[in-house]
Amino acid sequence: MTNFISIHDVTDLQALIKSGLEAKENPFADQHLGKNKTIGLIFFNSSLRTRLSTQKAAQNLGMNVMVLNVGQDSWGLELEDSELGNPVIMNGDKAEHVKEAAAVMGRYCDIIAVRAFAGLQDRDKDYREQVMTQFVKYAGVPIVNLESATRHPLQSLADCITIEEFKTKARPKVVLTWLPHFKPLPQAVANSFAEWMNHNDVELVITHPEGYDLAPEFVGNAQVTHNQNEAFEGADFIYGKNWSSYTHYGQVLVQDPSWAVTMDKMRLTDNGKFMHCLPVRRNVKVTDEVLDSPQSIVIDQAANREWSAQAVLKEILQNG
Ligand code: CP
Repeated sequence: MTNFISIHDVTDLQALIKSGLEAKENPFADQHLGKNKTIGLIFFNSSLRTRLSTQKAAQNLGMNVMVLNVGQDSWGLELEDSELGNPVIMNGDKAEHVKEAAAVMGRYCDIIAVRAFAGLQDRDKDYREQVMTQFVKYAGVPIVNLESATRHPLQSLADCITIEEFKTKARPKVVLTWLPHFKPLPQAVANSFAEWMNHNDVELVITHPEGYDLAPEFVGNAQVTHNQNEAFEGADFIYGKNWSSYTHYGQVLVQDPSWAVTMDKMRLTDNGKFMHCLPVRRNVKVTDEVLDSPQSIVIDQAANREWSAQAVLKEILQNG
């Protein structure tokens, strides 16, 4: 593994899950790998879990960590490249071009990890993954995706580790359900979860209201239904997430509160576990009763972010 942008950078998913579980058992076994190495964590957007878990994972591996909030701690970054006959003229509010910024960060860091969400204004632009692409192009060191416009692979790996720990059947039924929300949110977590589950040994069902289909390349072989109750029947894992429309890009088409996860819906499952990447708005997307029940494993899931990050950083350091 050189970069970790998506599942396509993973050669053996089961081995990576196992590596995460081994890190959890013995967090400091590989401290020598990161000695005198530095990781830069670059945030264009807010974070709690991703920031702290990646920092902790890097420290477990003996690395030094630097964190930068773009636009707050640093200059605003211009991301567009000049084209022949069409130069980018930087006379606006962006004082530095990513071409210099990423290259300079690459001189200070052995690995750079970047978070940059979708703008939700221009689908083609978001799905081109401009920020990740520019960092890969200009940094000259391995790049790790801390959630990009279309994917959140460290979250998805933590989700795989969590399902591995909690599953009671060889091939569990996993349901990705859309949840109601009043603000437009990116598709990244849902896309990524569907993509990784398509590579995992699970029965994947995706349920959402009409108009909320994910891009076909992420849906893969999943069964898709607009009947949430039917989807929940016999499920082993319920993975809740809101996303805005992909078809009517970035729009909130429905806020129907009946799509929230309640205890009545959880009773349709086979004693299923409730998962969510967090942060979650209580009693908007899921009730207190579900989140506070033994069926909720959201804290274990968030804790596994440390081990997913450690497995990925370890593999990059070993290949460096
Ligand atoms: N799940 C997740 O990525 O959390 P943060 O946005 O807090 O990092």
